[in-house]
Amino acid sequence: MTGAAGGIGRAIVARLRAGGARVAVTDRAVDGLGAEAGFAGDLTDGAFCDALPSRAAETLGGLDILVNNAGIITRGRITEATDEDFRLSMAVNVEAPFRLCRAAIAIMAGAGGGAIVNTSSCWGVHPGPDHPVCVMSKAALSSLTQCLGRFTERF
Ligand SMILES: NC(=O)c1ccc[n+]([C@@H]2O[C@H](COP(=O)([O-])OP(=O)(O)OC[C@H]3O[C@@H](n4cnc5c(N)ncnc54)[C@H](O)[C@@H]3O)[C@@H](O)[C@H]2O)c1
Repeated sequence: MTGAAGGIGRAIVARLRAGGARVAVTDRAVDGLGAEAGFAGDLTDGAFCDALPSRAAETLGGLDILVNNAGIITRGRITEATDEDFRLSMAVNVEAPFRLCRAAIAIMAGAGGGAIVNTSSCWGVHPGPDHPVCVMSKAALSSLTQCLGRFTERF
């Protein structure tokens, strides 16, 4: 569960735990989030993302659900967008979920299956005006999600 310290993330963690799930959380800081396991780190670190699913699986004794909830909303018109805005949005909103899905699916497939929830945005499906960096990164995440929903590998 990424973005666990944020507003939506805290609510998802609470609902999952209320439903009986044992939850491993990640965010820049994870103190006080009340989950069964916590891994603090930066999702722009590819190696950190690649290792997270196996670390969670080892700690919890398995991995059934991945929630890619972390995200950043970079606002502003295209003429105001910086190279760093683009790099950071693509790293957090696109590359991190890609890496986490790739690593988690390898584990889930070996165990018979699982579920992945990616938090995109309504603007990832129906772009509004301005905020192009945010809109296109969330569109990429929506597209990844739709693609993986058609995953064809046989378990
Ligand atoms: N709140 C809204 O109105 C809204 C609208 C559309 C989409 N969303 C999406 O919902 C999700 C959750 O949003 P929220 O409102 O709870 O936001 P939030 O800012 O409260 O939480 C996002 C969390 O992601 C974490 N995060 C961001 N970059 C990170 C990084 N590099 N490494 C590790 N953690 C990082 C932050 O620390 C934060 O705890 C996001 O993906 C967001 O884009 C929110």
